[in-house]
Amino acid sequence: MEEKLLKIKNDLIDALNKASREADILNIKSEYVGKKSEIQSILASLKDMSVDDKRKYGSVINNTKKEMEELVNKKLEELENNINISFDDTINYGVKNGSLHPVTIVAKEVTDILKKMGFTIVSGPEMETEYYNFEALNIPKDHPARDMQDTYYLDNGMLLRTQTSDNQIHAMEKYGAPIRICAPGRTFRNEDLDANHENTFFQIEGMVIDIGVSIENLMYVMQSVLREVFKSDINVRLRPGFFPFTEPSYEMDISCVICGGKGCPTCKNAGWIELIGCGMVHPNVLKAGGIDPDVYTGFAFGIGLTRLAMMKYKINDIRVLNSGDIRYLEKFDIK
Ligand code: DAH
Repeated sequence: MEEKLLKIKNDLIDALNKASREADILNIKSEYVGKKSEIQSILASLKDMSVDDKRKYGSVINNTKKEMEELVNKKLEELENNINISFDDTINYGVKNGSLHPVTIVAKEVTDILKKMGFTIVSGPEMETEYYNFEALNIPKDHPARDMQDTYYLDNGMLLRTQTSDNQIHAMEKYGAPIRICAPGRTFRNEDLDANHENTFFQIEGMVIDIGVSIENLMYVMQSVLREVFKSDINVRLRPGFFPFTEPSYEMDISCVICGGKGCPTCKNAGWIELIGCGMVHPNVLKAGGIDPDVYTGFAFGIGLTRLAMMKYKINDIRVLNSGDIRYLEKFDIK
């Protein structure tokens, strides 16, 4: 009898070892410990046994059945606990890794270095009033500078801002002087599109107002920014410029990296790309921001982030950057 019971139990253990699905285990359960199982019929045969045999085998039969039931239940429990789906992360599903957009990367590089120099990052509205985009920046309604910055005038009387310089006024109104802010953002112009002009592009504005701020401070900041982005000194030229909101005004060009300064469609054959407008803040602008020009001076700058990205990554057509065309953008493979 003992041998027989041991064999039934071992058979059950073998069967359970081979089973991995719940359905198989349940089948084994009914086969080995169910109503029609062998152990059940042995148990039923107890009643026909002699008193001696009953005494001899009763408990071993019962214990075996109990053990067998426990084995099955344990296996079922194990299965339940193991239902943690495992992922094979070595499988290549064909999903490509993305990367940051070139403009996002240069925006971060510029703001990172400015933050280290104590600039606060602010942002202003893309839909703007004429006052903040032009008038407060010393560009009244009849000023010819408006011609160079034609934009989209909206039915609600507002416009899509042509420059991030609107942030100068917002920031002065909000924080007063002294102040050190930068404002990256999207800007718009009604442009004829070509390799170097888009109707939507990105700039970053910077403004420092304090007592005794000078052009040297401005130059130092510009140099630091360019060095951070290009990771080396690059060819830069500074020339007098005109912006109604700065006096004096400068334009900073960098040698075109697409053609190495020889001249190409991207730089309109000039060999130089205009990248930064800057200067000392015009007293009228300080006044518009509620700051006394007899006490404070300041400098401001606007960097073309889209152009900066083009130069850094040698992208020869600005239109690629707004196209959202992965086939083109992934060529830069920027991590
Ligand atoms: N807002 C000018 C533009 O879009 C760039 C600029 C020039 C910004 C001079 C400035 C500045 O802050 O001082 O062309």
